[in-house]
Amino acid sequence: MTATKGLEGIVAAASSISSIIDGVLTYRGINIDELAEQATFEEVAYLLWHGKLPTQSELDGLIAQLGEFAEVPSEVIESLRLYPKDSNSMAALRTVVSSLALYDGEANDMSREANVRKAVKLQAQLPTVVAAFARIRQGLEPVAPKKGVGVAYNFLYMLSGKEPAQVAVEAMDKALVLHADHELNASTFAARVTVATLSDIYSGVVSAIGALKGPLHGGANEAVMVMLDDIGSLDNVEPYIQNKLNNKQKIMGFGHRVYKDGDPRAKHLQQMSRQLGELNGDSTLYEMSVKIEDLVTGQKGLKPNVDFYSASCYTMLGIPRDLFTPIFAISRVSGWTAHVLEQFEDNRLIRPRAEYVGPVGQHYVPIAKRG
Ligand code: ACO
Repeated sequence: MTATKGLEGIVAAASSISSIIDGVLTYRGINIDELAEQATFEEVAYLLWHGKLPTQSELDGLIAQLGEFAEVPSEVIESLRLYPKDSNSMAALRTVVSSLALYDGEANDMSREANVRKAVKLQAQLPTVVAAFARIRQGLEPVAPKKGVGVAYNFLYMLSGKEPAQVAVEAMDKALVLHADHELNASTFAARVTVATLSDIYSGVVSAIGALKGPLHGGANEAVMVMLDDIGSLDNVEPYIQNKLNNKQKIMGFGHRVYKDGDPRAKHLQQMSRQLGELNGDSTLYEMSVKIEDLVTGQKGLKPNVDFYSASCYTMLGIPRDLFTPIFAISRVSGWTAHVLEQFEDNRLIRPRAEYVGPVGQHYVPIAKRG
């Protein structure tokens, strides 16, 4: 038995939700480029859960259900007030999602019908708790969700307490579409491993949030913004990046385990970053990002991944950087829950083996004789 480090190249599940074939990403067989240009996030969530695009009445039904579920129990909002104000926002999200299960009477109902309902509930509630915690820690009161609006609108509305601009809603919606699912990425795999024990969907999503938090996965978008803030100016890009490359340090937002020729989502976010810069009348972050890309791709051949340009986009939308990874979770929960539903359809415990590389033939030594 020989281990493959990082399970690289190992096919660990069969799935009909999303695919990466020859560098092309599809959701249920539809190219992400088409979805990014034409679909709303709610259509995409429906597609991931049900395997087909919704009719108008199915879409209306989903939006109504999201509105119905978006309000979270008052006990959950109260508990957010008790978290330390400087809590890591992904740690807070991981904790609050776990607590949402305690207030859901059907948390342990394993029927497909209940699990589909819980998928919609989680999708509806994640934006509410992320926005509520963001406001509470600024000393502001949470804003109740609106009914009959999309996830992007509602999140921006609950975050600021104001009607969001159409351009901001459209940009956020596109970002949500682009992040919704991505085959067997680390957080999705974590969710599938958890529920394959026949644990509940909340446990699967909590595992996934924990995995997404890391800077090698979803946490990279925040790390990109930390880097842009550290660099501070267009003139400082070259010395800063050159120093990192010379010291063989990783540049966040570059590289990918699966895509070696570029992440198909990145171009959409690059375009959005350029457009937001033009609209804001300040393209500094976009220009800095392009310069970083030129250097990193030029010298290392590494291409930007989904996290790279999303950092400048979110900043130009006025979102604080420690909400970037929670926003990723607000989108990816659609994919996580679709994978949980798929896992339950044909479940088998996920239990691989390890290659043992430790000592052999050892013996127990009584404590008095240990040196
Ligand atoms: N900057 C500089 N060098 C890099 C980078 C990077 N961002 N990514 C990979 N490399 C180099 C490594 O140093 C290594 O070089 P070496 O062979 O000389 O030691 C080589 O490329 C292979 O890198 P690994 O880390 O082994 O590649 P792996 O497939 O395991 O990792 C990963 C993929 C984690 C995405 C990696 O590229 C990385 O750490 N990128 C930065 C973090 C990031 O942006 N993560 C988000 C990924 S997308 C997502 O999850 C949403």
